[in-house]
Amino acid sequence: MEFFHQPVLVQEVLEDLITAPDGVYIDGTVGSGGHSEAIGRRIQGRGQLLCVDRDSEAIRISKQRLGFLGEEVRFVRASYTDVDQLLRDLGWRKAHGILLDLGMSSFQLEQSGRGFSFYRDEPLDMRMDPDAGVTAEHLIRHLSEKEIEEILRKYGEETRARAIARRITQERKTKPIVSSLQLARLIESVVPRSRRRGAKHPATRTFQALRIAVNKELEHLASFLDKCPSLLCGGGRVVILSYHSLEDRKVKQTMMHWEKGCECPPTLPQCCCGKARLFRRLHKKGIKPDPKEIEENPRARSAVLRAAERITTHDTSHQGFRD
Ligand SMILES: C[S@@+](CC[C@H](N)C(=O)[O-])C[C@H]1O[C@@H](n2cnc3c(N)ncnc32)[C@H](O)[C@@H]1O
Repeated sequence: MEFFHQPVLVQEVLEDLITAPDGVYIDGTVGSGGHSEAIGRRIQGRGQLLCVDRDSEAIRISKQRLGFLGEEVRFVRASYTDVDQLLRDLGWRKAHGILLDLGMSSFQLEQSGRGFSFYRDEPLDMRMDPDAGVTAEHLIRHLSEKEIEEILRKYGEETRARAIARRITQERKTKPIVSSLQLARLIESVVPRSRRRGAKHPATRTFQALRIAVNKELEHLASFLDKCPSLLCGGGRVVILSYHSLEDRKVKQTMMHWEKGCECPPTLPQCCCGKARLFRRLHKKGIKPDPKEIEENPRARSAVLRAAERITTHDTSHQGFRD
């Protein structure tokens, strides 16, 4: 059974995302198709669903899973940053809802053989799209000690970044670091057992940092958020599930920025920045799974859902004037 990725906060996603059962919806990170299956069932026979993923295996698996939904569901292997082009290709103007469930799928972690897991002895690849970009092995082989340290600090918030980077560059002088288990053992040797905090494996942050760097995850997210206001129709919604603070911070700050209208200093009698209020946030705080869901699906424990609704273009009540 390949569909074992358990989707997170499914009911909450459906509630926030679907405003019109006959609308156009995009799942920008279809993975194993768990959320898409729920969306597809909700809009079946009326709406359209476009399933996107940069991983061809995800497209293969989700196509197999969602075939029963018929021709209203389409699949494209692409980055969600290209949703504007995909909409144009299909002759669709705007979407009623876009979902991003960020991070990696259980399939990628457990079965892809691409070195995402520090428990498996696999080639150190970590690309979600195995046909694009450079591998984690390449980064570790070619970057300087300082550059590796910066990646671990920036994308993993790893406090031992310097020591781990030094150990990596020492090791590679004698033999190349080519497997996930080899890298995990190396990191374990930097962090003595007595200093390990909590239940987290000491390689968790390094693996997260390398994965984010290899897949340029934050750059993709930033590019999507830039385009997002132009992708949704009035009343359309964007729902984003994040799994670490770097992503969630970016999503939160962007949604707050969208929601804020005029940014002129309060001393000005009238607005001159002309910044319109683009979205209304559906929740002031991110939604988190309850303890029952986390118990059933431990992967859900770090999830945070944020959602926003595009303000209808004819609603100019906040445009150009201070609230
Ligand atoms: C957490 S999984 C999604 C799981 C899915 N919601 C489900 O229910 O099975 C994240 C997926 O996003 C995909 N992904 C990550 N970055 C992407 C990007 N920039 N464009 C398209 N897909 C991306 C990954 O390949 C992975 O399959």
